[in-house]
Amino acid sequence: MGAPTFRTPEEKKAYVRRVFGSIAPWYDFFNTLLSFGTHKLWRRRFLRELRLTPGMRVLDLATGTGDLALAVARRLGPEGEVVGVDLSPEMLSIAREKVARLRESGRAPLARVEFREGEAERLPFPDAAFDGATIGFALRNVTDVPHVLREMRRVVRPGGFVASLELSHPYLWGFRQVYGVYFERVLPWIADRIAGRYEEYAWLPESLKRFIDAETLRRLFEEAGLERVRVIPLTFGVAAIHIGYRPEEPGE
Ligand SMILES: C[S@@+](CC[C@H](N)C(=O)[O-])C[C@H]1O[C@@H](n2cnc3c(N)ncnc32)[C@H](O)[C@@H]1O
Repeated sequence: MGAPTFRTPEEKKAYVRRVFGSIAPWYDFFNTLLSFGTHKLWRRRFLRELRLTPGMRVLDLATGTGDLALAVARRLGPEGEVVGVDLSPEMLSIAREKVARLRESGRAPLARVEFREGEAERLPFPDAAFDGATIGFALRNVTDVPHVLREMRRVVRPGGFVASLELSHPYLWGFRQVYGVYFERVLPWIADRIAGRYEEYAWLPESLKRFIDAETLRRLFEEAGLERVRVIPLTFGVAAIHIGYRPEEPGE
């Protein structure tokens, strides 16, 4: 099975939709297994860096099974709101089940949470509709990163944040090589053995190979019109947080 080639953005979108549609029931399990739980630490750090305050309205783009959206919702209090958008109906249905289970169990006061099918490249929201926008482990998968960043900037209010948590390219020699073997060979093999999902989990290292490095992503944040951009490498650069802010408008 070779690496996929896409002649058009629509082909990539269809491929990505099929991949996530197929692994949706396995997604959370493999996230924890294959990252040895590290993704939870990264998410916690990401949430701290967002400096969320009760009552905010936040967009979680490419929300998937909703883990980031729900973690944000726990921090916004009953007056807050989170809207999760994703192009995979299968991933969204798992996210909705989680909300239903949380509400039934009466645990964790949640902000309002809504999940909607939609594309990162064409956000169905007016300008300045949110206090902030997040995207977790998904910029690799979109068809046009600069355009998606501009869309995220457009839908947050002046002063609001745009933030990404994404896999990146490890910088520590030695660690990089060992990690490369694990990520490219062992990880798809495990997914194949357990769930028969080789191709879908081979897309994970393949999509990272095609993805830009953390400094280039910083530049794209700036070129999208975001300011005070911060880059925080995680676990020797295995992942990175990028946060920027929509400039305040003159006279405010
Ligand atoms: C690796 S998952 C990340 C899910 C979630 N954000 C998380 O933190 O676990 C990537 C998600 O991005 C979604 N996605 C990929 N391309 C997209 C696009 N162009 N528009 C909207 N969602 C997209 C996929 O359907 C998938 O649910």
